[in-house]
Amino acid sequence: MATVKTATPVETRSLPPRILHGGDYNPEQWEHIPGTWDDDVRLMRLAGVTAASVGIFSWARLEPEEGRYDFGWLDRIVELLHGAGVRVFLATPSGAKPNWLALKYPEVRRCQPTGQREHQAGRHNHCPTSPVYRAKVQAINERLAVRYGAHPALALWHISNEYNGYCHCNLCFAAFQRWLEQRYGTVDALNRAWWTAFWSHTYRRFDEVTFIDGSVNGLWLDWKRFMSEQTADFLRAEIEPLRRHAPQVPVTTNFMGTYEGLDYQRLADVCDVTCWDSYPGWHGPATAGRADGEAEVALNTAFHHDLCRGFKRRPWILMESTPSHVNWAAVSRPKAPGMHRLASLQAVAHGAEAVCYFQWRKGLGGTEKFHGAVVDHVGHEHTRVFGEVAALGRDLRQLDALVGAKVGARAAVLYDWDNRWALEQAGMMRNQGKNYVETCLEHYRPLWRRGVAADVIGVQTDLSAYRLVIAPMLYMLKPGVAGRLEAFVRDGGVLLATYLTGLVDEHDLCFTTGRPGPLRQVFGVWAEETDAPEPGAVRLLPVAGNALGLTAAGQGGVFCDLVHAEAADVLATYGDEWYAGRPAVTLNRYGKGMAVYLATRPDAAFLDALTDRLLAAAGIEPALPTALPSGVNAQWRGDCLFLMNFSRGPRRIEIGNGWQDRLAGGTVPAALDLPAHGAFVLSRGGTPPAES
Ligand code: GLA
Ligand code: ZN
Repeated sequence: MATVKTATPVETRSLPPRILHGGDYNPEQWEHIPGTWDDDVRLMRLAGVTAASVGIFSWARLEPEEGRYDFGWLDRIVELLHGAGVRVFLATPSGAKPNWLALKYPEVRRCQPTGQREHQAGRHNHCPTSPVYRAKVQAINERLAVRYGAHPALALWHISNEYNGYCHCNLCFAAFQRWLEQRYGTVDALNRAWWTAFWSHTYRRFDEVTFIDGSVNGLWLDWKRFMSEQTADFLRAEIEPLRRHAPQVPVTTNFMGTYEGLDYQRLADVCDVTCWDSYPGWHGPATAGRADGEAEVALNTAFHHDLCRGFKRRPWILMESTPSHVNWAAVSRPKAPGMHRLASLQAVAHGAEAVCYFQWRKGLGGTEKFHGAVVDHVGHEHTRVFGEVAALGRDLRQLDALVGAKVGARAAVLYDWDNRWALEQAGMMRNQGKNYVETCLEHYRPLWRRGVAADVIGVQTDLSAYRLVIAPMLYMLKPGVAGRLEAFVRDGGVLLATYLTGLVDEHDLCFTTGRPGPLRQVFGVWAEETDAPEPGAVRLLPVAGNALGLTAAGQGGVFCDLVHAEAADVLATYGDEWYAGRPAVTLNRYGKGMAVYLATRPDAAFLDALTDRLLAAAGIEPALPTALPSGVNAQWRGDCLFLMNFSRGPRRIEIGNGWQDRLAGGTVPAALDLPAHGAFVLSRGGTPPAES
């Protein structure tokens, strides 16, 4: 396996200075229906489309037989789009393999964990190791780069599509064995790291690693790391010819939020810009009967937007969203009037520099023919969905000045793939309801409710930009992480960690220094045991006159660390069980900052109150001095304040005088009425509170 090196991404590889608007466009599906392409271009102008992702699944059309390429149709499409002022996000076609390739070279098809080779079917299922696949992909990518790399319409390389999944073929295992050898040097070191004397799993040679045994936790974890690394290496291989022929064009690959299988940070590091495909369940079961309407879905979506921004802490691209509904969910309802505008502006508020769709035009056949699209089967512009998309296009044109504008978050929530994998796989006192991702979201909720901008970041990220760092369930402390957190607190930061912090090192081997391991001094606590009662089963009682000013009692449960406050002050104690009176929340002043240990999973109100006190301690202001009405969110980006009403009813906000409406123009009243699903983008010329 050749490891391909590419140059470090540079800032000069940037997107056009516009908030782009467009989506996945599959003209090859329409070649046999005359006039469709011309009509597409006419409709794109009407919809204010400025970008189109082309070629994502076009391999069979671009290379119909091995080594016989046909770019004529793509030449024509690129010129048509260029003539209409539409920038091209040109995809590399590796997301789906043509039949000739999959049948002639079986090794490009994946193997299941059982070793069984897959049939040629579906998509997103190539072997990331196969030298044949890499060579074929590089050959076509190179031709694309030579042919279109200097074309003025080309704005971005869209690499493959939603990389996902694993391959268990012999090639992958051989590469894994070499990766392990590089990582551990000797098989003894591997045996120690994986604790293989357990159940007699000792390996004698690296080539004995031929099956992913979930009972060997270290192996399980290293396999996921390797598959992430192998995918990143495949991505580097895809990029290599593009960089060689078109070094000025930025590259991206589209993510799927917190998709479990791949450590996206490793992929993001290879790209110039990050992007993701966002399909929130608007109007779905999570919203039924709720006065705050879509707020739960909006909160979840915001978290994922902030994760996509957090990879590089730079603006990002909403690469896919549906203008209506999807076709793969149990139930997916069309976006109600106004919802599309609201959801799209939410993405821009969180740093998006493009709002794109899957898909431009609904195919007449195939499994996605009933997926929402800008252009319906009926083929004209006189549909509700088209009208909403076109109106959004006009709005986005008003926001071009936001390109490059930062969100400037002072708060961060840590989210880490290694930690998630290890925590989810570890058998412990409670295996039901660990809910790592959901817990990160619960900690993000109080920030979102106040319109406090937050980056969702990995544990390797530099923390100097933040005043508050929230580290939910940081079970694994990889090398350097504890040191960075310690320095953050010492330098004046406010750090919140929770139950199950600091149990294991990078190999999932337990620390012997007492939990939270290398953070014991920073938090001034030792967590000796953990109980696992039902949610809310144990009362949480604030200590009179506690340093953070917590006053309201709450309920804890799920996990209850039984903590000794060695140096920390106790802010709240447990009110029930045999550990009543013992610490539930502690605060340790350390250096110039403070480290707060939350020993249990509290109810939402308690967590909200605690986070409120931490924000105050960190000196982080909410988006507006007034509390936001239920279902309303506010986010600053650059000099713009986005006010978004996710509830089903009108909401009034007292924002005071002097605000300009950036979309409609003019000023807005001091008592601003937001209709249901309404959104405003305002500015007043001053410096926003959260800007860096
Ligand atoms: C993903 C894919 C698209 C399409 C959409 C449908 O995001 O990238 O090709 O299948 O899902 O929602
Ligand atoms: Zn393979």
